[in-house]
Amino acid sequence: MPDTIARRTTEDDITAEVLRRIEATPDPRLREIMRALVDHLHGFVKEVQLTEQEWFAAIAFLTETGRTCTDRRQEFILLSDTLGVSMVVDLINHRKPSGATESTVFGPFHREGAPEMPPGGNIAPRDARGTPMIVSGRVLDPAGRPIAGALLDVWQADSSGRYDSQYAGSDELHLRGRFRTDAGGRYLVRTVRPVHYAIPDDGPVGRMLRATGRHPWRPAHIHFVVSADGYDPVTTHLFDDSDPYLDSDTVFAVKESLVCRFARHDANDEAAAQFGIEPPFDTVEFDFVLAPRRSGEGAVEGT
Ligand code: BEZ
Ligand code: FE
Repeated sequence: MPDTIARRTTEDDITAEVLRRIEATPDPRLREIMRALVDHLHGFVKEVQLTEQEWFAAIAFLTETGRTCTDRRQEFILLSDTLGVSMVVDLINHRKPSGATESTVFGPFHREGAPEMPPGGNIAPRDARGTPMIVSGRVLDPAGRPIAGALLDVWQADSSGRYDSQYAGSDELHLRGRFRTDAGGRYLVRTVRPVHYAIPDDGPVGRMLRATGRHPWRPAHIHFVVSADGYDPVTTHLFDDSDPYLDSDTVFAVKESLVCRFARHDANDEAAAQFGIEPPFDTVEFDFVLAPRRSGEGAVEGT
């Protein structure tokens, strides 16, 4: 005889039954994740008393998010970033020892294959409208000793606020470069001053931002992945301290220690002579500090 009483289920019975079946998951970490996922997902649906119409709308939203992804556009990363999930993952996974450079979001615009350039190499040779900018500093260990041969993978948007991959019909890499530190741990990058820009908002993530009364802007920044043998790599940005969006970055990525003075030079000053550059131009100086690699972590790709 079937047990008909056991089939008269409430919503809590369903939650309990899904959790019971998940207990068979052989991998303990997957079991832990699935347990929490089901628990929170069911809790969320019950808390807001989700209607069927809302549930269908959510499925349509996620379907469109997937369909919006191409090899040049990652709408799921944008969704994670704009919901603050990427930064929570960053904070949990990159608790740096004090003094080490803090990390922030990777974002969807990194590309492999940026050219390796000599010190002072110009990553923005085709951006004629932008204000020339010199980014310089050192890569150091926590004791302040220079790290020679460290690799800096640098990328940014152009002076119109767009990444190279956002120009339809062009596969060319631009505003990207890889630089090695010299024996004194020094690096020198020539570029153009970054500007604030709106993340792609013509898809489902843009609709979500508008529906929730949010703007799509990111404060001006330059991206870096800095790595060296024997050290934890850091994925980070340098932010312009004069930017009006520092306190409302749409992806929540600003950390105080990464906000830098982007200085204007209108005259033939010392910096102009030092860098061999005509005014007007801008400079930013930043020392990256890498923490020694934690034991058990493998070699870093590209170093
Ligand atoms: C970026 O800075 O490139 C970025 C980060 C998160 C979302 C969109 C863009
Ligand atoms: Fe960016």
